[in-house]
Amino acid sequence: MIEQILPADFACAEARNEELGGELYPEEEQVLGRAVEKRRLEFTTGRACARVALARLGVEPAPIPVGERGAPCWPEGIVGSITHCRGYRACAVARSADVLSVGIDAEPNEPLPAGLLEDIASAEEMELLDGLRAQRREVNWDRLLFSAKEAVYKAWFPLAQRWLGFADAVLAIDSDQSRFCARLLLAGPVMRDGRRLRGFSGRWMACDGILITATSVTPAYRRTSVTPASGMMPSP
Ligand SMILES: CC(C)(COP(=O)(O)OP(=O)(O)OC[C@H]1O[C@@H](n2cnc3c(N)ncnc32)[C@H](O)[C@@H]1OP(=O)(O)O)[C@@H](O)C(=O)NCCC(=O)NCCS
Repeated sequence: MIEQILPADFACAEARNEELGGELYPEEEQVLGRAVEKRRLEFTTGRACARVALARLGVEPAPIPVGERGAPCWPEGIVGSITHCRGYRACAVARSADVLSVGIDAEPNEPLPAGLLEDIASAEEMELLDGLRAQRREVNWDRLLFSAKEAVYKAWFPLAQRWLGFADAVLAIDSDQSRFCARLLLAGPVMRDGRRLRGFSGRWMACDGILITATSVTPAYRRTSVTPASGMMPSP
């Protein structure tokens, strides 16, 4: 599913449960320490997905240790992102020559736990959700907003190396074209291609009870002109 919402530069792998199994490298094992079984399984399957995705990109199996604030440390020349939720694990990787950063996130297509929406959504985003609920009822839009924000954070962090709170970006979500945009409310970092990061654009999908979101940042020298979904802000 995940490759459907990412550009062709990406190699992806996903699993519905722990069927991939897989071994951990000592530096990965060390991070887990005495983690509970659930955490051990999701971490191991995430790493197994990562190694399948890397192989699809032609990269030899390699350790993917945990770095600053939990971000995965990819082999030289690779950018990537991992997600896991109940019933779904996935990884997407690309060459850093082709992609500056990526964030993927998966959530069950279920309402958010009570009280969480108020912590993660602005008044503007609450209004957006009202409109989306009136258009389509089969998507839990509050959960989709949450997922898109987490995907944004995962793409933000490797570029900025600092925290981004839920109130630091305003999301717009398009229901017809399955796209979303995030406008940063703080100054983003200057990226490797010389541009300042101002926001993110991404895509989402709902399939088999799972919501998946993905955003990636393409370097200026590889960008072709893309028409943003109607009514949405231009991508960064
Ligand atoms: C880090 C965070 C986004 C992870 O999301 P999650 O839904 O809890 O968990 P997921 O299973 O989807 O993703 C977990 C994976 O994210 C990756 N990840 C964790 N921290 C990361 C970081 N700082 N940067 C990039 N990726 C990170 C890891 O690969 C992790 O899996 P692993 O530990 O097995 O390697 C979330 O816990 C968090 O801290 N959110 C608050 C920040 C935020 O979302 N801000 C909104 C900005 S608009």
